[in-house]
Amino acid sequence: MQLVKMKMFHMIKKDLSVLEDELLKAVTSDVPIITEIGTHLVKSGGKRLRPALFLLAARAGENFSIERAMPLAVAIEMIHMASLVHDDVIDKADTRRGSLTANAKWGNQAAILSGDYLFARAFSLTVGKNYGESIAMKLSKLVTELVSGEIMQDTTVYLADHTIADYRARIEKKTANFLALCCEIGGMVSGLGESDVKGLYAYGHAIGMAFQMTDDLLDITGDAKKLGKPAGNDIKQGVVTLPVIRALKTSADREELRRIVTCRDMTDEMVRRALDIVRVSDGVEYTKSCVDEYLSEAKRCLPENINSDVRKTFIEAADYIGKRDF
Ligand code: IPE
Ligand code: IPE
Ligand code: MG
Ligand code: MG
Repeated sequence: MQLVKMKMFHMIKKDLSVLEDELLKAVTSDVPIITEIGTHLVKSGGKRLRPALFLLAARAGENFSIERAMPLAVAIEMIHMASLVHDDVIDKADTRRGSLTANAKWGNQAAILSGDYLFARAFSLTVGKNYGESIAMKLSKLVTELVSGEIMQDTTVYLADHTIADYRARIEKKTANFLALCCEIGGMVSGLGESDVKGLYAYGHAIGMAFQMTDDLLDITGDAKKLGKPAGNDIKQGVVTLPVIRALKTSADREELRRIVTCRDMTDEMVRRALDIVRVSDGVEYTKSCVDEYLSEAKRCLPENINSDVRKTFIEAADYIGKRDF
């Protein structure tokens, strides 16, 4: 489901529809297979949360200009799409956004190369637009951080001794810093002062932590059809997330859970059993309470003086993240 269909994002409805056209243009290449994969990825949809946050923040100050904001919005979604294409190869996922993944449809080689293409194309869109060195630095740091988060995760699969601090560091790098950056650079292009931009960054960071925690919870409690991507896949791929870390400490069946999550050739039956153990453990409630804390923090961080409609939408967006089931 795209956010554009939700009433609360009415302010940027038109921007988000321009974004769709621009994304399709941006993935058009003179090499037909690149255009084919890119078009499939864009048309599969997705929430467009990151460009939506950026476009909202870009309206928070006095200097909004759609012409100036749009190439950054497109670059942001393309960086996200590229990271998902690579993530699906790593996670051996066959569905995403309710459609086949690039790896399932065209194979790992084509998926990796099209991910590379999207990353490079995203950066080329921001060249020559006078966004300044600071925004360029932030965008490249975003990708280095995201990749660091994914590598941290990949080097610790099938291990049971994660601390909650390790988990937080990993999701901060792979997700929270991205949402923070969307809000931050939106604030920058809208001409806000330093302290308001900092407040938007902090808001984005906090909702980003909550967003990934919710994603990790939905992988355990959610429904693949509704999510449009596989459920239960984190455990299967050895990715130990917050609900599981907590259950490994508190569940009466923690020894059995430990044996399953550390098993490299886990059967589907073992995955189902692990899911059952975590679902009835306090890992679910614990994760929800962490999500709620981050969402309260996000609302506290929102600057007071920004455009009041934008501020209201940001508050509603935080509430949506706590309630989402897709
Ligand atoms: C998926 O992000 C990866 C995570 C950080 C959880 P989204 O849930 O925003 O994916 P799309 O863009 O809606 O497909
Ligand atoms: C987020 O992690 C992926 C990136 C930040 C690239 P997940 O692996 O949890 O994302 P999903 O669940 O596949 O969307
Ligand atoms: Mg994944
Ligand atoms: Mg996930």
